[in-house]
Amino acid sequence: MAEVLLVVDARCPTKIGTQALVGGWVRTRRDSKGGFSFLELNDGSSQGSLQIVCDSTLPNYIDEIQKLSAGCSVRCRGEIKASAGQGQATELHASDVTVLGWADPLEYPLQKKRHSFEKLREWAHLRPRTNSFSAVTRVRNCISRSIHQFFQERKFLYIQTPIITSSDCEGAGEMFKVTTLDLEKLSKSGRPVDYSQDFFERPAFLTVSGQLEGETFACGMGRIYTFGPTFRAENSNTSRHLAEFWMVEPEMAFFELTDNMDLAEAFLKRISLDVLQNCLEDLEFFVERIDKEVIQSLHKLVNDDFVRMSYTEAIQVLETSGHTFEYPIAWGSDLQSEHERYLTEVHCHAPVILYNYPRSIKPFYMHVNDDEKTVRAMDVLVPRVGEIIGGSQREARLDVLEQRMREQRLDPQAYWWYLDLRRYGTVPHSGFGLGLERAVQFVSGMANIRDVIPFPRTPGNAEF
Ligand code: 4AD
Ligand code: MG
Repeated sequence: MAEVLLVVDARCPTKIGTQALVGGWVRTRRDSKGGFSFLELNDGSSQGSLQIVCDSTLPNYIDEIQKLSAGCSVRCRGEIKASAGQGQATELHASDVTVLGWADPLEYPLQKKRHSFEKLREWAHLRPRTNSFSAVTRVRNCISRSIHQFFQERKFLYIQTPIITSSDCEGAGEMFKVTTLDLEKLSKSGRPVDYSQDFFERPAFLTVSGQLEGETFACGMGRIYTFGPTFRAENSNTSRHLAEFWMVEPEMAFFELTDNMDLAEAFLKRISLDVLQNCLEDLEFFVERIDKEVIQSLHKLVNDDFVRMSYTEAIQVLETSGHTFEYPIAWGSDLQSEHERYLTEVHCHAPVILYNYPRSIKPFYMHVNDDEKTVRAMDVLVPRVGEIIGGSQREARLDVLEQRMREQRLDPQAYWWYLDLRRYGTVPHSGFGLGLERAVQFVSGMANIRDVIPFPRTPGNAEF
């Protein structure tokens, strides 16, 4: 009986001597003069492919094997033997090669030639068959597992917060509306929208963050995290923004700002270490093809302390840097990506945690400092990406929170349940959000966020 193996396992020297059955997609076929064909078979389980040695005595050698080309799917049976080839410990000597699906070489888009990442986005359904996107996908999987492990080991509870919500957590008004009203009919009628006729009998939206609902669990069960898709209707066509992205948001009762920073730092170190330990082959691919500093910067992140700097200090650094920025910077303005990257890449040469931002540029829920001008916000900035984490200590005082809501033109009554957390048994608490795609970008060195998520949603793009 042949053992069904993934390519990643069939490549292990421990499998030498095994009768194996391996399925996958042909990357290349090479015919040798000595009456052999070599197939390079990949099934996505590893960066490396499995070499299949096909003898010309196989019954379908001429009719089928010699017609195989990139993209064809096959199932191969045979013995795993030691390989003399470079970069591979094993190869499979086929006793049977069954062709499952042909891919016409005149039509199949992914021929051997390398395609640009832009082009591959148009073939998002075939990207999983490429070296770069399968590497990204394996790293993304590793990070997702690492996220759960990190929090589970620390006894955080995994909470599923709603995707449909009526509250705007970030107060930026960048929400997608969810409705079952007939928009065409409505616009023809010219009548104002009557939300009492809508599905939820009120305006409803896709969530921009699970934080507010997460807080309700933290303020009762202690340490929780939510991890799911979030949606932002911001019209920013940048290399680090998506309209739909995945965010992990821990929320901790009895944590103050510095506890929050300590956790965020330990968390990023853990993710980076797990990727270094589990995805070395993929990282080496990124070093060769994408960014030669990827592995080095992961080691640096794991080993060095993050720099902690107040927003006010950061503004001084930027103002006296002598560097010309596209966007001018002054106390009170939000940092642009260029400023963030200057701080982490040029000034600190390390990840930076910026804290105590002006209250005017941060959401209502952040704890107001005694200076009344700043709030206990913290953003973690890393090389290549800039902001990777945003978080804060939450405002636990009812009166201050209500005042902050009014300041930002939010109706405290609409947030009655959120305010109840401060009305009954309020506690200091903190949390943060890590954008999964930004984490994958940092780890892989991929320049564009659209190339680290299976099906990117951006303004004007929702194919597939
Ligand atoms: O800084 P943000 O907006 O913070 C929050 O949403 C808080 N409610 C989180 C919390 O405290 N629980 O977003 C957090 C992170 C950012 O640092 C970034 O990594 C990512 O989410 N992010 C995006 N990623 C991709 N596309 C976008 N449009 C993103 N917006 C934010
Ligand atoms: Mg932010």
